[in-house]
Amino acid sequence: MTASNRIVLSSDHTAIQLRLTIAAHIAAHGWEAVDIGPTTPESTHYPKHGEAAARLVASGDCRFGIILCGTGQGIMMAANKVKGVRCGVCVDTFSARMIRQHNDANMLSIGGRVVGEGLALDIVDAFLTAQFDGGRHAPRVAMIEALETKDGPAVRRGT
Ligand code: RB5
Repeated sequence: MTASNRIVLSSDHTAIQLRLTIAAHIAAHGWEAVDIGPTTPESTHYPKHGEAAARLVASGDCRFGIILCGTGQGIMMAANKVKGVRCGVCVDTFSARMIRQHNDANMLSIGGRVVGEGLALDIVDAFLTAQFDGGRHAPRVAMIEALETKDGPAVRRGT
């Protein structure tokens, strides 16, 4: 298997079963599933799992990443802090296709408490079968990448 065939999967404790189901699904479709856990159900911290998966995508070790937490939101936010990662949360197949076609997303985030198994697998399939359109979308993706080096330290950190 090459990196182009490898998909890293990670989650927090809320979505372990769905993650395992997705891993088996993508493996049955010819991908190498690189499942980095966790494997036990204790409460854990989604940022570290999002980061771990994102690092494998950013380094080129894996072509794509699929990450899950309760909503998909927190782990997505963490993954997107890693340079080179473009991750979107999807609750529908249209968005899953479009984040590949228009945004050249390299990671997909799913909320295990939001979507059921059948829809989650359809979302994964939509994401993995779509291709980046390039063209007018390429400079926009480059603009996203440019943001990674634009700012100094943040001042406002929320409440
Ligand atoms: C865990 O309770 C929950 O906060 C987490 O899975 C996720 O939804 C965070 O965004």
